[in-house]
Amino acid sequence: MESLKSAIECLASLGEVERNPEARQVFLDFRDQLTQGKIRAAEKVRGRWRVNVWVKQGILLGFRIGELSQMGDGASLSFVDKDTFPTRRFTVEDRVRVVPGGSSVRLGSYVAPGVICMPPIFINVGAYVDEGTMVDSHALVGSCAQVGKRVHLSAAAQLGGVLEPINAAPVIVEDDVLVGGNCGVYEGTLVRAGAVLGAGTILTRSTPLYDLVRRKVYRAAGDTPLEVPENAVVVPGARAVKKGQAADWNLSLYTPVIVKYRDEKTEGGVELEDWLR
Ligand SMILES: CC(C)(COP(=O)(O)OP(=O)(O)OC[C@H]1O[C@@H](n2cnc3c(N)ncnc32)[C@H](O)[C@@H]1OP(=O)(O)O)[C@@H](O)C(=O)NCCC(=O)NCCS
Repeated sequence: MESLKSAIECLASLGEVERNPEARQVFLDFRDQLTQGKIRAAEKVRGRWRVNVWVKQGILLGFRIGELSQMGDGASLSFVDKDTFPTRRFTVEDRVRVVPGGSSVRLGSYVAPGVICMPPIFINVGAYVDEGTMVDSHALVGSCAQVGKRVHLSAAAQLGGVLEPINAAPVIVEDDVLVGGNCGVYEGTLVRAGAVLGAGTILTRSTPLYDLVRRKVYRAAGDTPLEVPENAVVVPGARAVKKGQAADWNLSLYTPVIVKYRDEKTEGGVELEDWLR
């Protein structure tokens, strides 16, 4: 194991490994060990969890040396991914239950080159997903939703579909937006370039958006959808209800809040993992 570890560490320190045939062989041995559970990215040593940095380096090496290749059954299922990470095949002898699942990208949706789709996702008809965008697991790009360049749709982010009424604006997410995990963007909401939606933020036509920085409240009205300003950092918040039974019970209601505009700290938090691309 020590020789595998030092080979990986050595390759990880090299600038150019993409065309190095030795790197591929080392990686394949490494992947075998990983698949067999003989090596792990982290393990418990004397009661404490330790990260095996070299194992993570080995995984990243696989992304670096992998070539795009066609995968799937060639009929209804087709996938394109780095050839260093094909899907595993299980047999009954493995005693692992593999429940059917997967992703669907409907005909009639545009998905630009450079988009990454992590299963399971659904991209519906009329949707437009521009270059360099990441659509993470369990994300939905609803019908007609327009997604810009380099957007990160995090795990379980939902962009609602807007087919009807026919003249209603779809959900629009402009370039370089981060939609955090478990967010929901619905009813034609427009998210301007560079905005960050913190995990769990929900935006609809009925959610007023409180901007603590500019001391404004944004709302949808008539034909105008709810709009998130450029570079706004929105997180899920609450507002006290000051009337009726809700006041007697000291209830508050969910509301999205702009806590700041994107700064250096935000950049650090939303940085995409380039190696995975
Ligand atoms: C929004 C986010 C990017 C943080 O941005 P940031 O610029 O680093 O924000 P800061 O840490 O400076 O926070 C600013 C304020 O908002 C609050 N805040 C930040 N994130 C929040 C959240 N998700 N919910 C509620 N409040 C939040 C902070 O507490 C801080 O308020 P304080 O100064 O009163 O303590 C981060 O919270 C987030 O949600 N990231 C997305 C994570 C995710 O979904 N990843 C998916 C990977 S698949």
